[in-house]
Amino acid sequence: MEKVLPPRLGRLRFRSSARCATAVRAFTFCLFATGAGAACCASSPAASAAPGTPVAPVAPSAQAPANTLQVLHWWTSASERKAADLLAARMADEGLAWKDAAIPGGAGIGAGKVLKGRVLAGDAPQVTQIIGASVAEWAELGLLLDIDGVASAGDWNGFLFPTVQKLIQHRGHVVAAPLGIHRVNTLYYNRALFARLKLAPPRTWAEFEAAARKLRAAGVAPLAQSSESWQVAALFENLVLAESGPEFYRELLVKRSPAAAADRRTAEALVRLRIVKDLIGREMEERPWPEVVRQFARGEAGMMIMGDWAKPELAERGMALDEDYGCAAAPGTARYHLYSVDTLTMFAGANRHRPAQEKMARVLVSPSVQADFNALKGAVPVRRDADPARMDGCARASWTIFAQGAAVQAPSLVHRMASDEASRDAIIAEVHRYFLDDRATPAEAQRRLGALFRLFNLRSQGAPGA
Ligand code: BGC
Repeated sequence: MEKVLPPRLGRLRFRSSARCATAVRAFTFCLFATGAGAACCASSPAASAAPGTPVAPVAPSAQAPANTLQVLHWWTSASERKAADLLAARMADEGLAWKDAAIPGGAGIGAGKVLKGRVLAGDAPQVTQIIGASVAEWAELGLLLDIDGVASAGDWNGFLFPTVQKLIQHRGHVVAAPLGIHRVNTLYYNRALFARLKLAPPRTWAEFEAAARKLRAAGVAPLAQSSESWQVAALFENLVLAESGPEFYRELLVKRSPAAAADRRTAEALVRLRIVKDLIGREMEERPWPEVVRQFARGEAGMMIMGDWAKPELAERGMALDEDYGCAAAPGTARYHLYSVDTLTMFAGANRHRPAQEKMARVLVSPSVQADFNALKGAVPVRRDADPARMDGCARASWTIFAQGAAVQAPSLVHRMASDEASRDAIIAEVHRYFLDDRATPAEAQRRLGALFRLFNLRSQGAPGA
């Protein structure tokens, strides 16, 4: 059977199964390789098609009517579902049908794998939640539609935050539509418990420890926390930011400098991670994030540190902001914004879907969709001209701090804002390993991180075109 590969890599229709297998192997390598590997693929002969060349993969989903867009995303909790439904309804108002392809798994763990499988099978959805550095990785393969026309006609540069502008561009082309900004350094505390025990929301990690001890003495788990790898790593990135600020955070998790791995500040974050684990004690299990939210909502834990997508999920459990729970910055990070920006990308290839894809991109950034979607999602608009008066106190603080610019912003490693997928996965695995194994010392974890970083650096230097 004739098999057509995606643009950039495909361009050729492979009739011989041997050639097809070779190309699929090359493509598989591209998708699963590090950023360096992907760069190498993109400049290989098989990948010499011009970026964005409109060559259609044979996609069963492409047979859908032109105004029907299949959307692959990972918004599957009750509140996330409502936010996605709002988008679907707004699309319907514009004559577009949203065909839902939701894949469970917090932080997109399942969605990323399903997407790779579907692209390999020549069945890419028309629209996909791809965020952060992953946008560039997919764009480098020539798979994403450029929506330059939509962005310039709508003067996106006139109202998007500069950090968001950078995140949606690749090699000078706009390849993603931005939706909202999440703050990952958010602390939630149970107001009734805090009032009863005469506790104030902790502003530093030392205060956090003191509050945690009081909660424990009162028989309450101090922190709702899962031992799932990405959730542990999210705690670690909060600790790094608190110990050192955005500049060092970038040295460690964006530049992945071996010197930063060996630095005292990394050691301190690792030591603190172990202390927090000891304070949490036995209650910790590997659970999806909505279950962690439920534990906190039931009053079984005094605090929780999680991205602000937890806020609407708390509302689902009957918890009201400023009444039942309070929201503050994670200890030591009040001046900073650890961010995850949600974006939807359009897959190139099916030309008849292009008008619908472009219309969708246009609608997503409109002021009303931005305000309404983000209120349901717990995030804040990507627009500088948004109205903070329409936001709750937690969102207003997030939006106002983000608006201060790059000096106070830190890109979340866990949520793909800081590095390519392979480096991210390796760092998360290393931090998780240290967290689970009480015999692993901070010095050992630092050595292992340093070795990983040296390897990443070597790879990117070795990549053609690097
Ligand atoms: C996304 C959020 C999502 C969260 C939990 C983050 O990576 O930016 O939209 O709610 O993961 O899955």
